[in-house]
Amino acid sequence: MKNLVVYFSLEGNTRQAAEIIADRLHADILQLETVYKIPKNKMKYVIGGMQAAFGVCAKIKPIGVNPEQYDRIILGTPVWAGKPAPAINTFLKNNVSNKVTALFTLSGGGDNERCVRYLKKKLDNLGMTVALADRNHPYASENHEKLNHFMEELINGK
Ligand SMILES: Cc1cc2nc3c(=O)[nH]c(=O)nc-3n(C[C@H](O)[C@H](O)[C@H](O)COP(=O)(O)O)c2cc1C
Repeated sequence: MKNLVVYFSLEGNTRQAAEIIADRLHADILQLETVYKIPKNKMKYVIGGMQAAFGVCAKIKPIGVNPEQYDRIILGTPVWAGKPAPAINTFLKNNVSNKVTALFTLSGGGDNERCVRYLKKKLDNLGMTVALADRNHPYASENHEKLNHFMEELINGK
């Protein structure tokens, strides 16, 4: 089975999980990049948070792969204002969202469920999901076990 891990990450947490998953599943990996960078200072909450809250599709750089060629897409996003990052909205608008069967979300400790619920409405074939915590959050100690379980299920074709 040909797998593609697609993710957006501003500060590296989602990237780290994406790389672990892609490595374990021998999957190709695609990092979405926005044309206009969100600043990494406190303004990120204003700009990024507003965009996410309103479901904005951020302009993204060309992705350079054809998602149609894959059997399964595993999607990863940080939770922003309880929703996916704006680059994810763009990817889903432009591409075959019915290939997304698994989702991993990274949050500052809350709101994963809201983000998953939001995406479930857009992704008809979404099955496996895993909610992970930012590396600075105490819940991050559970990430390793949760991620292992998620990847086992993916390998076993669930
Ligand atoms: C604009 C913005 C909005 C955020 N909103 C939430 C939120 O609603 N709930 C939450 O638990 N964490 C929130 N966070 C924290 C991130 O989800 C968390 O730090 C995540 O691990 C970041 O992933 P990244 O390092 O891949 O960018 C927010 C962070 C940013 C930058």
